[in-house]
Amino acid sequence: MKTLIRNGRIVTAVDDYKADILVEDELVSVIGAKLEMETDRVIDAAGKLVIPGGIDPHTHLELPFGGTSSSDDFFTGTRAAAFGGTTTIIDFAVQNKGESMIQGVDNWHKKAEGKTAIDYGFHLITTEFEDGAEREMYQLMDEGVTSFKLFMAYPGVFLADDATIFRAMSAAGARGGLVCMHAENGIVINEIIKRAIAAGRTAPKYHALTRPTIAEAEGVHRAIAIAEMAESPVYIVHLSCADALNQVREARDRGLPAFAETCPQYLFLSLDDYGDGWDGAKYVMTPPLREKWNQAELWKGLRTDDLQVISTDHCPFCMKEQKELGRDDFSKIPNGAPGVENRMSLIYNGGVVENRISLNRFVELTSTAAAKMFGLFPKKGTIAVNSDADIVIFDAEKEHTFGVANEHMNVDYSSYEGKTVKGKVETVLSRGRVRVENGEYKGKAGDGQFLKRGTCVNI
Ligand code: URP
Ligand code: ZN
Ligand code: ZN
Repeated sequence: MKTLIRNGRIVTAVDDYKADILVEDELVSVIGAKLEMETDRVIDAAGKLVIPGGIDPHTHLELPFGGTSSSDDFFTGTRAAAFGGTTTIIDFAVQNKGESMIQGVDNWHKKAEGKTAIDYGFHLITTEFEDGAEREMYQLMDEGVTSFKLFMAYPGVFLADDATIFRAMSAAGARGGLVCMHAENGIVINEIIKRAIAAGRTAPKYHALTRPTIAEAEGVHRAIAIAEMAESPVYIVHLSCADALNQVREARDRGLPAFAETCPQYLFLSLDDYGDGWDGAKYVMTPPLREKWNQAELWKGLRTDDLQVISTDHCPFCMKEQKELGRDDFSKIPNGAPGVENRMSLIYNGGVVENRISLNRFVELTSTAAAKMFGLFPKKGTIAVNSDADIVIFDAEKEHTFGVANEHMNVDYSSYEGKTVKGKVETVLSRGRVRVENGEYKGKAGDGQFLKRGTCVNI
């Protein structure tokens, strides 16, 4: 199968030029000016950007959490990702307490196999790591699961103590693996939550008011300190505020291999979105939305490379029946929000159109950096000869209004309902095949392949 993409403006993290792309089967095979050849298909990309498919390294599909499960499964979630211009996700498998790490990954393989619309990899949420667990960790790394998420939050569910974190970081660091940290002091937060509930403060906004930024900053500081003692890199997930970012910046200024991602919700939504009523449950996610002034600080961090990646932390729960579990008590609202479909257009509009980042940086933050961080580059994250033909044809001029009526995530609300942005995903190729075109899905469950990832190339 040969496809020629003609007349587009190819933009990668470092390039910006007009050329044609020949895709043969799953790979980019030739890039050149005015290519003339017999092909099965020609796609005219005149006037459009041609960019690498997005990589979202933080999703939770079918995640059992808070007495329910996130509402997108591996088909609906990855199809929605494709609609939004994302062609690779890295989802979080879970090692439940008492379970082996290998069992945790096996469970996620069973959920995903034959169901995904795009390529996917796994991190492993690691809840236990005793001496000797290195063997299992290294087996998983050999099988392509090279990053591990540990939590300082959610006591009794996911929380790992500092000794566990130190052991896991030491082991991962010795082999080029990467520990991703949910950095928030969950033990103190739980005490603050108990006081709020006892005082009758039960509305959704108290989710945010019981998780102060200092609890996140303390977690980030501690995660980086433990990583330094363990002589390992660390990647802070879903960083939400300036206080936490300052910790990362200080560490990087000292030359430490400390990395971090933020998410669109922290760049475009704020504490004000909770309001006083039940509707605020839409935004019950962890860390919570912050005071608006933090957004400018996060954009600054993205410009200066103190933040390297923009992921989504896509973890949708419907308002009906799921978020409702916490109607009378915010601490029972399942934590998480949808976003996998919105990321590329949101960041293009808020970043490039609104002059906060360059076009190349947009590609780097939404694709290339994650490919490098999580061992997928240059198969993914760029447009180059022999790279996978994961390509998005993006209409930079077209306006688009977000809303649950025209989104494909399996959830009954949109975090960005009614927001109009400039920049729309038009055509999406995943490993050489058109999967989204003219607003229609052209693929099927099982098109995606599991990605055996290598190790981080940033360190
Ligand atoms: O609220 C969130 N972020 N839910 C997903 C779990 C996590 O901590 O990433
Ligand atoms: Zn987390
Ligand atoms: Zn998450």
